[in-house]
Amino acid sequence: MLNTAPPDAALLSRFIDIVGEKNAITDQADIHPFMIEQRDIYLGASPLVLRPANAGEVSSILKLANETGTAIVPQGGNTGLVGGQIPDKSGHQVMLSLGRLNTIRDVDPVGNTLVAEAGTILQSIHDAADDVDRMFPLTLGAIGSCQIGGNLSTNAGGTAVLAYGNARDLVLGLEVVLPSGEIWDGLRRLRKDNTGYDLKDLFVGAEGTLGVITAAVVKLFPKPTTKEVALVGMSSPEDALALLNIAKSHAGGWLSGFELIERMALEFATRHATGVRDPLASPHPWYVLMEISVLGQHIDGRQVLEAVLGEALEAGTIEDAAIAESIEQAKALWHMRHNLTNSQKPEGGSIKHDVSVPLAAIPEFITRANKLVVELIPGSRPITFGHLGDGNLHYNLSQPIGADREAFLARWHEVNEAVHEIVVDLNGSISAEHGIGDLKRDALVGVKSDIEMTMMRQLKQLFDPNGIMNPGKVLAAGD
Ligand code: MLT
Ligand code: ZN
Repeated sequence: MLNTAPPDAALLSRFIDIVGEKNAITDQADIHPFMIEQRDIYLGASPLVLRPANAGEVSSILKLANETGTAIVPQGGNTGLVGGQIPDKSGHQVMLSLGRLNTIRDVDPVGNTLVAEAGTILQSIHDAADDVDRMFPLTLGAIGSCQIGGNLSTNAGGTAVLAYGNARDLVLGLEVVLPSGEIWDGLRRLRKDNTGYDLKDLFVGAEGTLGVITAAVVKLFPKPTTKEVALVGMSSPEDALALLNIAKSHAGGWLSGFELIERMALEFATRHATGVRDPLASPHPWYVLMEISVLGQHIDGRQVLEAVLGEALEAGTIEDAAIAESIEQAKALWHMRHNLTNSQKPEGGSIKHDVSVPLAAIPEFITRANKLVVELIPGSRPITFGHLGDGNLHYNLSQPIGADREAFLARWHEVNEAVHEIVVDLNGSISAEHGIGDLKRDALVGVKSDIEMTMMRQLKQLFDPNGIMNPGKVLAAGD
């Protein structure tokens, strides 16, 4: 059973002995950065952060935790957005930081696979793939600090899902330490393996509640020969959807990015992020950042992009477009996109949603949600952006200008509930890509059927009968 008392000094030293003193953090000032997340929404407490070097040490830690009922919270790059990587405030939970498991064990350009340990920074995987003229598609704003173990544990999405799928689609095999301390070596590299239950899929997206992913085999892809990027201005989300269909009809699988951005999101980025400017001559209510990636010299990506934009302009679907004329200009547009989140912070409190609805329902969702939130909080500022190609919107609400941040944020759950009601009504999901963590744990019960919740609780009980793994995340502790 999970021990509700804090781990005593003797137990803490047994944990410290596993990793060695220099890889155990006990000083509260040094522990602090592991306890807060980027948006200052969660602040946890812990007596100890353990930094193991390999799966063997992770195994010894979990074995001891299981024997003593000690709660363990795994953490990768600490970039999660639902509090899954932050301990609760009790000060009883021990943190397992995976950052030292950062070896890329193998790169195979024949089988197009790469084997990386959990703490490998996503950017390093991109670089290792690039070194053998391949690419790993998973891309998100936190690429320089998020770790592949966290990406897989949360089934991360990002901006390349449209063409390549989310993290779950990019993994072939896993190495996992179970709560008992047993190590499951499932590092298979096979594209086809139909031998019974797909166990790896249980750990992908489990947010560290069933075990700890310590390494993974991920898929590599041929590197596109050219990437064409454009920022397109339009008057409505309906027009953005029409553009999506025009783009799909010309580019098909070459369409590798299709991000919707509301004017105010772009304004925040130009105001608060360094090196961001609006490349279009006049403002537009909505924008799409579109990317087309082609393979092979015989196809002219620019021609494909121009055909999309030409047809859309002629049909009156779009108002204006700026095509990136160089790699630097393309990078600058993506830099703007990846800074939309940070740029909201200087504007005060922001109440967030990460939702998906069927594509055709996107305009209705935005209209209904906008009406509702300003009725709930007059003066609040809806900021919508997201991965339109995947039907995934980050529907955010910035506080009214001059309002009290804390009083505004205190209404987080009330606003979430109201917005989620619209999402459910439109047959959508209340968590498209960020996961459940602590933030959406209670809401989950309201949107899953009883049979789904029962199966999830039974799986948790089966893998982690003592409830030591990331208690209170995804499911309520003791559920
Ligand atoms: C993004 O797409 O930028 C991320 O999911 C972060 C966010 O929702 O703010
Ligand atoms: Zn996103």
